[in-house]
Amino acid sequence: MRPARLAILLPIAFGLGCGASGNERAREYFPDMARGPAYKAFAPNAATRSGLTLQAPVPGTIARGHLAYQFHYGPGEEEAARAGRELTNPLAPTSATLEDGRSLYTTYCLVCHGAAGKGDGPLVVAGKIPTPPAYTSERVAVFPPGRIFHVVTMGTQDATGKQKMPSYAAQLTPGERWKVVGYVAARLQRSTAP
Ligand code: HEC
Repeated sequence: MRPARLAILLPIAFGLGCGASGNERAREYFPDMARGPAYKAFAPNAATRSGLTLQAPVPGTIARGHLAYQFHYGPGEEEAARAGRELTNPLAPTSATLEDGRSLYTTYCLVCHGAAGKGDGPLVVAGKIPTPPAYTSERVAVFPPGRIFHVVTMGTQDATGKQKMPSYAAQLTPGERWKVVGYVAARLQRSTAP
């Protein structure tokens, strides 16, 4: 910087710093750049089109975590098969998603299906519910992930429409259902483990 400019700027800088002491702030230059006047959320506001300070969200805005889940399948065999053809698991089978899936399975499925998915959970052993098929059974072993997702979402019904396995849509979010499905597919469906 040229000495002439310094000669002008230095006194200004010192001047602005003047007045600083233990009890007093230094003088501020353009204080509203640091401390803007804040509007109250519900106060009128001449600067906005609606004349209000708090702005309504853009139409169609969905609050975080409030995306409504649309399941486009009805109950029954045909719809289950269609879900199997059309839906794929959006979650990769990482050790983290499989571990979550195992934990959810233990909480929500094991009681009927058993730890290894053989259809021998405590409720079956106690004679409280009909025996579910093993995941390795001829029928279930070939279920694609989307079909298992359909079973967990809709449950199963017999020919008269009576519910056999209950729906777990209320207990498990779609993401949790996919984790369970991933675990069943990776660890129980083709497994010969105990
Ligand atoms: C209250 C007991 C019970 C619980 C809990 C349960 N199921 Fe079932 N599940 C059954 C019964 C009973 C059947 C046989 C239903 C049938 O034949 O229609 C069955 C059948 C199934 C089938 C085969 C469906 C078919 O079309 O053959 C799959 C897959 C399945 N369950 C997955 C799960 C998963 C995953 C969970 C945990 C989210 C779960 N089940 C929780 C009782 C249960």
